[in-house]
Amino acid sequence: MTVRTIDPVPRIASQILLDKAELLGGRHAAEIRQILDQRGVVFFRDVNFTDDEQLAFAATLGTIRLGAIRKEGDRGIMTITRNPDDNPRYAEYFHGTFHWHMDGSYEDIPPLASILSARVLSATGGQTEFANSYAAWEDLPGDEKRALERLQVVHSMETLLRLAFPEPSDEQLESWRTSFIPKTHPLVWTHRSGRKSLVLGHSVTSIVGMAKPESDALLRKLMNWVTQPRFVYRHDWQPGDTLIWDNTGTLHRVEPYTADSGRTMQRVTLDGEEPLARAA
Ligand SMILES: [Fe+2]
Repeated sequence: MTVRTIDPVPRIASQILLDKAELLGGRHAAEIRQILDQRGVVFFRDVNFTDDEQLAFAATLGTIRLGAIRKEGDRGIMTITRNPDDNPRYAEYFHGTFHWHMDGSYEDIPPLASILSARVLSATGGQTEFANSYAAWEDLPGDEKRALERLQVVHSMETLLRLAFPEPSDEQLESWRTSFIPKTHPLVWTHRSGRKSLVLGHSVTSIVGMAKPESDALLRKLMNWVTQPRFVYRHDWQPGDTLIWDNTGTLHRVEPYTADSGRTMQRVTLDGEEPLARAA
């Protein structure tokens, strides 16, 4: 290791002490990827990236996601705001971000990571929380691990968005169901590295083959386990911050903020590099 880091909490997240020029130079990219893999979240203070700089930095780390499913825009940078005038297509979906989830849980190859920069902060709320689903797996007792490894879970955008819209209109339901087809995944992701993480979030509808009361109880227990304070980092945004989360080994959510708060973030997402389920 040559870069200096500060770990704000023991089990997740590192602040990396590099400045903008060092980040854009790309010389530390492999090391940043390595720390991201180990810590789930990395962040940099006072970098104040422009859109072009954020894209250039992202390109040193992986393949920038364009268009396809999430319509990231022409260049792969997306404005995250609740203001429907700024982002009419996705303002509704941001309600779902108030609840624990991983991105792309309806895809075979979920995104590797997202790179988020703070532009305008909300006066209240807007902090982002991350839970380390690698660490949560590692700390489970061995007998529980063996039982959980046999299970599959169904992820559905409808399940996540019903938390925000308990009584959706027919149009909302139609839109959610056609835009995001429910997806069955193994509960435990065995990564190419050999490490394992839990594939959870409030998008999980059910455990395959389990009666609903039993399934609901186990899912509640697992979500409480993964999101307990020792696996969680809460990022208190400062202007100029850039943060990256490993979407394959963390869950995230944002503390609610109002649509008129002005909160504006810029996001670049990196394509996934391995399928969640291994070919049989
Ligand atoms: Fe998200």
